[in-house]
Amino acid sequence: MKIVTVLGARPQFIKAAPVSRVLREKHTEIIIHTGQHYDANMSDIFFEELNIPKPDYYLGVGSGSHGKQTGEMMIKIEEIVLKEQPDYVLVYGDTNSTLAGALVAAKLHIPVIHVEAGLRSFNKKMPEEINRIMTDHVSEFLLCPTDTAVKNLKNENITHNVINIGDVMYDAVLYNQELATQKSTILSELGLVEKTYHLITIHRAENTDDIQKMQNILAAFSQIEDMKIWPIHPRTKHKLETYGLDINAIPNLKVVDPVGYLDMLMLESHAKKIITDSGGVQKEAYFMKVPCVTVREQTEWVETLETEANILVGTDVEKIVTAVKKEVCPVYEDVFGDGKAAEKIVEAIERT
Ligand code: UD1
Ligand code: UDP
Repeated sequence: MKIVTVLGARPQFIKAAPVSRVLREKHTEIIIHTGQHYDANMSDIFFEELNIPKPDYYLGVGSGSHGKQTGEMMIKIEEIVLKEQPDYVLVYGDTNSTLAGALVAAKLHIPVIHVEAGLRSFNKKMPEEINRIMTDHVSEFLLCPTDTAVKNLKNENITHNVINIGDVMYDAVLYNQELATQKSTILSELGLVEKTYHLITIHRAENTDDIQKMQNILAAFSQIEDMKIWPIHPRTKHKLETYGLDINAIPNLKVVDPVGYLDMLMLESHAKKIITDSGGVQKEAYFMKVPCVTVREQTEWVETLETEANILVGTDVEKIVTAVKKEVCPVYEDVFGDGKAAEKIVEAIERT
């Protein structure tokens, strides 16, 4: 079988790594990189570290408004899909690259495989929510990471070819964690002592595009005395500069550029707590049994909220500080599958 995979943003490279490895054992994969993420530390580093095959097509679309970015992707993806005539188009997650790939394929009557289908925050103000709903509704194969995702689709009358395959990010963590321990020197480079620091990531538009929310988040960080390490997403860096908000005054905060996946796994697994608005990082915290505080009003990963493995706090200063300081005793369950999602994706395609 011939499969065109559309990738574009950091979490998609990580999700694609285990799948491409299994897929290419028996099938032909053509990778299109839209160029949505383009800095070396947001893109190339993941291809190198995770041995993801070099993209066959690099579209270089870059940053822009939603319409411009998605539209340009669609124009270029369409040309390639028409030329390559694949049996399937494979997309991951909920970014503009996901939506562009799915819409092009569906209109050309090429079945879409959506990995990480069925997630909902029930907040249509999030660009990701629009991308998920649209992608799910034009997909032929809806490969879900959790039972909740399957239920969400059922509630929208989508039941055909819906399979819970587990979370492919869990495959990636299991495959790379040992490697991270061997190769990463980030803790000593940054002078971090295990379980004494909090790891921060903030990048979601719902937070970064609102100055008040960013002020609250920074005010909360100022009240947390422990050491904090923050690999900052370029979107957040640009927004803070635009708002004139200075993070250098926050005590015990180390801000660094985005790090590679192996360094990130090290930072996550040795953190005392993780403070984030990232979807992927919430799950990785759960896989690694590191308590998480999620700076959002909703999460798609509702399983993580049970037993306070993850505490949802929004952007209220006091709620953030209280949750970070709280002693929790979470119980972790196997809610994200068995780490063999990549094999299950390929089996599902082969069964058709
Ligand atoms: C995108 C996804 C989001 C996902 C995130 C993962 C959409 C709508 N959003 O958000 O769901 O969680 O990726 O990280 O698809 N920038 C750079 N260099 C880069 C990439 C981005 O400087 O390599 C800056 C640019 O100023 C750009 C901004 O970051 O305008 C936002 O990038 P964009 O890809 O549009 O959205 P993300 O916030 O990264
Ligand atoms: N990540 C990384 N380096 C960083 C920040 C995140 O490798 O500096 C990884 C993280 O471990 C996870 C993925 O990127 O696997 C999550 O991507 P992101 O937070 O950008 O997007 P989201 O999951 O929210 O869509």
